[in-house]
Amino acid sequence: MLKQIVKPLLSWYDGHARVLPWREDNHPYRVWVSEIMLQQTRVEAVKPFFERFLNALPDVKALAECPEDTLLKLWEGLGYYNRVRNMQKAARVIMEQYRGEFPADYEKILSLPGIGHYTAGAVSSIAFGIPMPAVDGNVLRVLSRVKASYEDILKQSVKNSLEKEIKSIIPGDRAGDFNQALIELGAIVCVPNGKAKCDICPLAFCCRAKEKGIVDELPRKKAKKERRLEQKTVLILREGERVAIRKRPAKGLLAGMYELPNLEGCLGEEEVLGYIRKWGLSPLRILPLAGARHIFSHVEWQMTGYAVSLEETEHMDCDGMFFVDAKETEKNYPIPAAFAAYARYMDIVLGQERYEER
Ligand code: ADE
Repeated sequence: MLKQIVKPLLSWYDGHARVLPWREDNHPYRVWVSEIMLQQTRVEAVKPFFERFLNALPDVKALAECPEDTLLKLWEGLGYYNRVRNMQKAARVIMEQYRGEFPADYEKILSLPGIGHYTAGAVSSIAFGIPMPAVDGNVLRVLSRVKASYEDILKQSVKNSLEKEIKSIIPGDRAGDFNQALIELGAIVCVPNGKAKCDICPLAFCCRAKEKGIVDELPRKKAKKERRLEQKTVLILREGERVAIRKRPAKGLLAGMYELPNLEGCLGEEEVLGYIRKWGLSPLRILPLAGARHIFSHVEWQMTGYAVSLEETEHMDCDGMFFVDAKETEKNYPIPAAFAAYARYMDIVLGQERYEER
């Protein structure tokens, strides 16, 4: 039944596609960077990151050679930092195995680190015109509505069978536009939050969910596991203009990034002062800060915070913690946006907020 969507969808896309920075040219590197950024982040949030990333690292070689801290700093605020680490691994493979040229081959693209079926399909089709599907959440929503299907879109088998179906209808001469048109329709017409705009949808004529009046019920997603809650006490340890930061372990959540020192649990002033003295530091004043929370995909941090001013003493760096000028952290140290609420007390701004109007 899907064959009939091809023509109206492409005509609609020709007239309604948004002008987006990564659509200016279809160079595989640009397409790849945009698709990775767009995987977990909204289009509007990605725009400034995309420009800045490409200016700093204009090609595969620059990405392959970029020092890790600079790389993470460029990604700061986008979250899911393994995405950019994997991109760098893939860039190194492309340098070594393909002489720096992105391979124009679906299977070779798929075998690169951090690239799954969606990204391989998107890059293959948009950059090289290879007729392979790129099924993301937008596409799953559009198609489960068109087909009035109650199947759980989080199931791999459901995704696989839709990929197969798209493969059989994807037009050989406009594969990239077709995939982007489906994504675009899901993003601006057959929207995820709020009412679908069926009155302006080019697929309304054949949409079974519309016909049955069940658009709002689809797609079906079985409930995900609940997030684990973690309590943390975040510290701004200040000595003059300097504040303490430390590097996170190389593995696990926010691997290799820098953070404000923090302790497990929701601690009171006396407990915090106890730890600080144990680290060999001399606290002068302690000030409780407002609570904050940050939601990751599987964990939620519930944070309480303290600003502590310290007396200058001889050996202040301890336990992996070191003191740097507060403004320097903004420039040189990638600090996850999870700490943004507390970074503000240091008068620095992190991640996406750096691009928002103030
Ligand atoms: N989301 C994922 N890929 C996209 C693209 N190429 N354009 C707009 N939104 C997207």
